[in-house]
Amino acid sequence: QRRALVDAARSAGTVLVVDETMNELHLDDDVEMPRRVCAFDPAGSTVLTVGSASKAFWAGMRIGWVRAAPDVIRSLVSARAYADMGTPVLEQLAINWLMRTGGWEEAVEIRRGQARENRDALVAAVRRELPEWEFEVPRGGLTLWVRTGGLSGSRLAVAGERVGVRVPSGPRFGVDGAFEGYVRLPFTVGGPVADEAAVRLAAAAQLVGSGASAGAEAPRTFVA
Ligand SMILES: Cc1ncc(COP(=O)(O)O)c(C=O)c1O
Repeated sequence: QRRALVDAARSAGTVLVVDETMNELHLDDDVEMPRRVCAFDPAGSTVLTVGSASKAFWAGMRIGWVRAAPDVIRSLVSARAYADMGTPVLEQLAINWLMRTGGWEEAVEIRRGQARENRDALVAAVRRELPEWEFEVPRGGLTLWVRTGGLSGSRLAVAGERVGVRVPSGPRFGVDGAFEGYVRLPFTVGGPVADEAAVRLAAAAQLVGSGASAGAEAPRTFVA
């Protein structure tokens, strides 16, 4: 499929922007990762791969990158000069150092271990507090994509603000109000914090389910 996709893009004269930011965050040992899309475009003229240290390494590290053919990179660099004032040098040096010394692999391995623990904690807490919510346990990445048992994800996000848990609603990840019955739960915390988050989510669900949140202004993404 990836080869066919790249071939189709090439013959249509377009480029693919491939976001593989989560690529390294496979959490289970037996996950077999497919080859990266750019493997089917070695020259880098059809596939632009984007990645970010903010997911694989640490959210505070605001450094991303693009892999593409040198002339594509040159035009991106010159276009970017008009759009911002530059990228912080110290952080670039830190990432550069990590990648050159092998520290990157070590750091990502630590990150995978934390994400695995946090995932397991959040999965257990949500199953306990909200047994009617459905999700597949993800084998990678940093989030649970949860079907909220018929409750509006937009209303849950609003109610969550009231009870002290902030969650992005499904429609933020779709167009035209798609995914209203979902929320995205990042597993960036574990232990008792994950437990507390699930307790508060259950309180938000209670508010939404009882209609107590109905008076609240629905966000623009809400679809009745
Ligand atoms: C798949 C994916 N790519 C890219 C980004 C953006 O990363 P950054 O933190 O570097 O802006 C996100 C952020 O949630 C993401 O989920």
